[in-house]
Formats: sequence, structure tokens, C-alpha cells
Amino acid sequence: MADRLLSTVPHHRNLPESYVRPESQRPRLAEVESDANIPVVDLGADDQSQIISQINDACRSYGFFQIVNHGISVELMLKMMAIAFEFFYLPPEEKAKLYSDDPAKKIRLSTSFNVRKETVHNWRDYLRLHCYPLEEFVPGWPSNPPSFREVVSTYCREVRQLGFRLLGLISLSLGLEEDYIEKVLGEQEQHMAINYYPQCPEPELTYGLPAHTDPNALTILLQDQKVAGLQVFKDGKWIRVDPHPNAFVINIGDQLQALSNGRYKSVWHRAVVNSDEERMSVASFLCPCNSAVISPAKTLTGDGSAAVYRSFTYAEYYKKFWSRNLDQEHCLELFK
Ligand code: SIN
Ligand code: FE2
Repeated sequence: MADRLLSTVPHHRNLPESYVRPESQRPRLAEVESDANIPVVDLGADDQSQIISQINDACRSYGFFQIVNHGISVELMLKMMAIAFEFFYLPPEEKAKLYSDDPAKKIRLSTSFNVRKETVHNWRDYLRLHCYPLEEFVPGWPSNPPSFREVVSTYCREVRQLGFRLLGLISLSLGLEEDYIEKVLGEQEQHMAINYYPQCPEPELTYGLPAHTDPNALTILLQDQKVAGLQVFKDGKWIRVDPHPNAFVINIGDQLQALSNGRYKSVWHRAVVNSDEERMSVASFLCPCNSAVISPAKTLTGDGSAAVYRSFTYAEYYKKFWSRNLDQEHCLELFK
């Protein structure tokens, strides 16, 4: 099965049939617009109320923003990217040891999205890791490249802190107590997907990842600093989120859309591929604990607006999310 990995083939000459989307589902790359308006929030600014108001605007209108001066060093970001490439350049027999198609596994290297369920594949390999608590998971992580565990665990620790700071700012931006969201989400899980998109011979016909929303609470994405590929759906159009120097891309997941009673948007996004260059992205997901009960915050439903979503546990949501295909209707529609 591990021979399904795209990254074990040095050069792909043509796109296999199983990756070709029907005409109506193709990315239409020529129609994609540039990202001029996606907000870049300077977390190092003195004026916290300004930061909060920018986050509020971004989460309402785009569900996405980028952050700079976020406190994670450029050196660590570069090390994380470098180790990700080193990992995918390992020899096939080394990677085969980690291969699995089973989404329930907490450490696995796989390809596409869910090869067991999907009918058309995606041009992506990925390493998916559970990252919290680190003591529990790091011993099972790849031991090759030799510095993998050290670099990635340092990165995860810092990203978690950054995530908590963002959740505090997001709470404040909704007019909630600073620790409101953190309390609702409980002892949060943290997952990571290291996504490798090789050069693709026919990028017009396929995706790295098709349109989806993220099922978790908040996503912190380190995207390739050179090669664009992430696109966000806004007002009926796809727009590119071009790499911004030393920034992270932040997006609202389904849980924050529910908790904010729909004020903040968990928007459709996708990753496209290209024929010139490979691309890497490292997504960190903050997830409620399984027993967390998610419902619209009371103060956001008291002003005459009814609760848009019913209460549910994250375990219930996650099960539903993974039982579907990626690019169906918004999973939250099922919780109204
Ligand atoms: C994702 O949506 O998780 C991946 C996005 C990307 O590769 O930029
Ligand atoms: Fe995503």
C-alpha cells in the first residue's frame, strides 16, 4: 500500500486517471483572484484593542487572517519546514514503515485524504501526528530524520502557546471573557498534518486538497514561504492566500463557528497544486477535548438572535465529520 505515496516517485510524467476530477469539479485556476484583502494582523502592536478589532473583522468576513510578530522565531519556522522536506525525501523503505490508511491511527503517513472512502484521489502525501500530550506521542514519532522529534516537539509546544493566546483574543473579540473559549474546549487535543504536494503534471485537473472546512476549533498553518497553493472561498470566488513573510495563516474551524453562533465563519478552503514546484504546508489543529460540549455562547444568543446550532459534543461532531466525504455540504448544517 505504501507504494501509493506520491513522494516515492521522483518525477511524475502524467496524472493517473484516479486523480482526474470530473469537468464540473475542477479548480479553474485562471479564475482565482489575488488575496489583497486578507488581513495581516500584527500581534506585536501596542494597541490590543486594535488587534482585537482586526481579528473581529477578519473572522466575520473571511474566517481567515495572517499573523506577524507572533512570538515564534523565524529560525524555528525554518527548521520546521526544513525537517518536513527532509522527512518526505527519506528513502521509500523508510517511509513505508509509517504508512497507514486508517484515519483512527494517531501517527501515520498517508496520501490523498481518505483513500478508503474517496473515489477520486488528491495530489498530496501527509504525515499526521497527534501532538498532545507530547510525552505520550513523541516516542512513537519518526526517529528519522534524527532531529525530527526534537524540532517538531519544540515547534508544537510553541504553536500551542500561540494558539491559546489567539483563543484569548478571539474570546475578547466576541465580547466574551478572555478564557471563555479555552474553558469550553477543555483539555485540548493538538494534531498536526505535514502536507507535501509534489509537482503535478496536470494541476488543472486535480487538487492537493479539495474544498473543505476544518472540523476543529482553530488552525495555525505554516505555509510554504515560496510557493502559493492555499485558496479561500469568499463571495462566490476563490482567492489565493499568498505566502506573507514569516507569517502564520490562521483560520476559524467549525467549532468556533458554532460557539460564536455563526458570527465567525469556518470557511471553505482548498489547496491546489502546480507543475513547476513542490509545496509544503504544516497545519496545526487545536481541537476541543472529546467530551467538550459545544453550543452557541449564551451572550451571543441573548440579544434576540436565536441559537443557530444545537449543543453537541466534539466526539459526536468528529465522528460525523469523518463519516462523510470531504467536499460535501458544511458539516455544521447537520447540527442546526
Ligand atoms: C489544509 O487546509 O489543511 C491545507 C492547506 C494548505 O496546504 O495550505
Ligand atoms: Fe483545512
